[in-house]
This record gives sequence, structure tokens and C-alpha cells, in this order.
Amino acid sequence: MEVKIFNSADEIASAASEMFVKIINDKNDAVLGLATGATPVPTYGKLIEAYNSGKVSFKNVRTFNLDEYCDLPRDDKNSYYTFMHDQLFDKVDVCEENVNFLDGNAADWQKESERYSQAIESVGGIDIQLLGIGTNGHIGFNEPADAFTGDSFKVTLTQSTINSNQKYFGDVPMPRYALTMGIGLIMKAKKILLIATGESKAEAVKGMIKGEVTPKLPASVLNEHKDAIIMLDKAAASLL
Ligand code: PGA
Repeated sequence: MEVKIFNSADEIASAASEMFVKIINDKNDAVLGLATGATPVPTYGKLIEAYNSGKVSFKNVRTFNLDEYCDLPRDDKNSYYTFMHDQLFDKVDVCEENVNFLDGNAADWQKESERYSQAIESVGGIDIQLLGIGTNGHIGFNEPADAFTGDSFKVTLTQSTINSNQKYFGDVPMPRYALTMGIGLIMKAKKILLIATGESKAEAVKGMIKGEVTPKLPASVLNEHKDAIIMLDKAAASLL
């Protein structure tokens, strides 16, 4: 695991976006694993800038998102499908048919999990997977647990995750379930880039980097990946 510490979230966004641009330009049909949440938004902003200045095209890029809420229409304003279109897809030349999400409304989540794994495999696997980290050490919606998860599955969201995300839903109660790529599937990505910014992530970051590998802190599994890069701002790195 390679840990890089930056002065600001903006510097991380530039470095992360440069890493993505290089991968896309080296292999123009690159397969990107993408994440939602507040952390990757500045990186998506820099990718849009790179696209607008002609440094990169997403025309042949394939994307797979980490997770999606259950029991929410795909085009709900709070779905991750909508989030990704607002933050990136609608502002670059990605083709809609190359954009992939888990279907949080699938009748049978096990079949949906198989479909997603096969879709990823059929394009040769994910070249780079972007991740954030929860204050409880989750990645995707892989919450602290007794065992590491495998392929995609249906998760009951923890109170900690609900407390973090309810703000986006205002007065409407947020979904209690989501479909998420499991740890096993995430770990198959050829390269993983985890970004953490802000003091609220410092404890989870410390556990991930200094602690043992344990499903009680899911991000700690990245110690076992052969090409995982962790980008931190000073606040997120403050307990190292
Ligand atoms: P955040 O979420 O980027 O909104 O802090 C990260 C995560 O929960 O994975």
C-alpha cells in the first residue's frame, strides 16, 4: 500500500485526476470503477476540466459504480445513478451504454450480483477503482463485519452510514438497504485509489494503515492489494 500525503483536497483532486487521465490515455477503452460521496467530487471536477481542455476523452471508457441504494427509482434525485450523471457523466463524452450500475431495484439481488460480476469480467476487469472511506472504515457499503464479503450483495445500512448520508435526503427517510460491490470484487481491480480528506476520517485512516487487516475495518483489506494507493490530506493523515 502506498500512502501519499497532500497539503489540500484540491491537490489530491489534481493528482487523482492526472492518474485517471493517464490510464484513459494509455488504454482508451479503460474500465473505471467509480465512487460516490463528497470525497471524489473535486476529482470529478478536475476530470471535467481535463475533458474540456482536450486532454482526455471518455468516448470509449467503460464505468462501473460501487453501489446503489435499494427501493429508490434509478432517476431519483438521491440515487447514485443521478449523482454520477450530475457530477461527471453529463459533463463529459462518456457513452450511456458504457455506464454500469448495480440495479438496487432488481427482484433478485443474487442474480443481479452475478450479472454485475460477469459484466465486469466481460470487459477484462476494472483498471482502476476509486474509493472513499467511511468514518467507520467502510468501503463501498461494506460495513464493519465478522468476515470479508465477496461479490456484490444486499446490505442493511448501519446507523453510522445513515447518520452520515441522511442529510442528502432532507426530511424524507433515506433507504435502509443498498446493493454494493463486495470486498472480493473490489480487490479484483488492477489498481485501487482510495482518497480520504478531513479530520473526521483520521481515525479510520489510522486503523487502515497502522492496524491489523480485519473485516471490522473493511478498508484495512487494501494492505493485501498489490497496487493500492492511498491519497490523504493533512487532516486525514493527522493521527498517523
Ligand atoms: P464521503 O463518503 O466521501 O461522503 O465522506 C465516503 C464513504 O462513505 O465511502
